[in-house]
Amino acid sequence: MTVSLAVLASGRGSNFASIAEACENGGVDARPEILISNNEHAHALDRAERRGIRAEHIPYNPDNRESFERRAVERIRSENCDLVILAGFMKVLTSYFVKQFEDRILNIHPSLLPSFKGLDAQKQALDYGVKVSGCTVHVVTEAVDDGPIVDQVAVRVKDDDTVDSLSKRILKQEHKLFPRAIQQYIEEELSKGVTRNK
Ligand code: GRF
Repeated sequence: MTVSLAVLASGRGSNFASIAEACENGGVDARPEILISNNEHAHALDRAERRGIRAEHIPYNPDNRESFERRAVERIRSENCDLVILAGFMKVLTSYFVKQFEDRILNIHPSLLPSFKGLDAQKQALDYGVKVSGCTVHVVTEAVDDGPIVDQVAVRVKDDDTVDSLSKRILKQEHKLFPRAIQQYIEEELSKGVTRNK
């Protein structure tokens, strides 16, 4: 059975593109139904449109986070999506949203969690002086960058790394990890109750 994905992204959308590609070539048994962005200028929106995937901007007001979330939930439900993918979605979701899709939201974070949660994870890793960092796909819970880990990839930190060079090497791994982790989650977890949200 093909799983329906809703993807939330705030910017560039390279992770979204790698997931969409894997869905097209059969690496992931899923289809992105809708791409939602809080940022009307997000490149992710153009990438979705070019692939013929519904792309929608929903305005985000930091003083009323739930208004974005209520509209997003409405759209995700009306598209009958089984799984919500946070692919560079740079806003913290409230418990309202997380409860709507319990165990049905995956996020990617550019560090080896539980180290370096939050913003600028690659800079945090460099500042700390770790020799290995990487990326993590995890199930989203109410705490930020927390929740059960689906899979991780380690990336060696070089002595002359900058935030930019390390971020690029981690991103390359993110593009492989995220589709693989989604497929794994579909096979191991979602298949047990895939129609729960329908
Ligand atoms: C990625 O590094 C992701 O781990 C982080 O934000 C970045 C998004 O990149 N959460 P992109 O928009 O997928 O290109």
